[in-house]
Amino acid sequence: MEYYENVLEAVGDTPLVRLGRIEADEGISACLLAKAEYFNPGGSVKDRPAVKMIEVAEKAGLLKPGGTIVEPTSGNTGAGLALAAAVRGYKCICVMPDKTSREKQDLLRALGAEVVVTPTGLTPEDPESYYAVAERLAREIPGGFKPGQYENPANPLAHYETTGPEVWRQTAGRVTHFVAGMGTCGTITGAGHYLKEQNPEVKVVGADPEGSIFSDPGNVHSYAVEGVGEDFYPGNHDPAVVDEVIQVDDRESFLMTRRLMAEEGLFVGGSCGMAAVAAVRAARGLPESAVVVVLLPDTGRNYVSKVFDDEWLLEHGGVSPEDLTKPHRVFEEED
Ligand SMILES: Cc1ncc(COP(=O)(O)O)c(C=O)c1O
Repeated sequence: MEYYENVLEAVGDTPLVRLGRIEADEGISACLLAKAEYFNPGGSVKDRPAVKMIEVAEKAGLLKPGGTIVEPTSGNTGAGLALAAAVRGYKCICVMPDKTSREKQDLLRALGAEVVVTPTGLTPEDPESYYAVAERLAREIPGGFKPGQYENPANPLAHYETTGPEVWRQTAGRVTHFVAGMGTCGTITGAGHYLKEQNPEVKVVGADPEGSIFSDPGNVHSYAVEGVGEDFYPGNHDPAVVDEVIQVDDRESFLMTRRLMAEEGLFVGGSCGMAAVAAVRAARGLPESAVVVVLLPDTGRNYVSKVFDDEWLLEHGGVSPEDLTKPHRVFEEED
């Protein structure tokens, strides 16, 4: 018989999918490969750090039987934590800002988590911010434990132990560029370190929404893409591993998200479009021998009422009606 002892063992080993039509449309000679993280049981890359943070906390005695996991999360880490909580018998509370899509909130409730919604746009120091509220709940609830994905070293460790080695193995060591969005920076720090250890020539490229601190610390403002970019530097941010950060605006991110579905059949979220735009830019002009791997963090199912709703996209995504009449529009270089 071939089976997993529990669903947490099904996390990872996601497929690499070639973006062949986008390569052709964009005149890219390099091989452009997407690591499709929506194949994880919780629907996103965040299952990896969620499971690892719980394992490490259990071993360290920080999380005891019957305990409560409390985490500020825009949804995906919450899904991973809720799965882990169900399998291991913990309670799970997710604190999230009110810009988070309704589907993500409903999903977490469906996965058995309690959801606490806080106002968007507050500084982390504000007592009502989602960071501060999670901190307080973890402190006040007996047996409370906050994984703290922004500073917990088990987050990048998960990517160092799984995402990085998978990319290396799946490309038979031929990967030349690794492109990923930056939120907690767990993905880019962990996978980036691993890949650079195998081959110091591998270029690690961050994708960042316009308005986030990583690409332009002097111009931090709100944006519509979810799950990526920050207004502070997380503890897991390691600038030494990132060779370049490419800024992508909401419009480009959302149009590429639609293209990933329309041209490649990859039903993914807005931060995936953002990462793919950065990957196209990074891949431009590279030779045929180059292998560019872009990590696509989550599923489009989280955004049916947003990125995949024309009205929402026109109102909030910086997209014009004309943009929507050209589904296979060739990406225009703006640099
Ligand atoms: C949808 C989405 N994309 C990208 C990221 C960024 O990944 P990381 O936190 O590892 O930097 C996240 C993290 O929350 C996310 O939810």
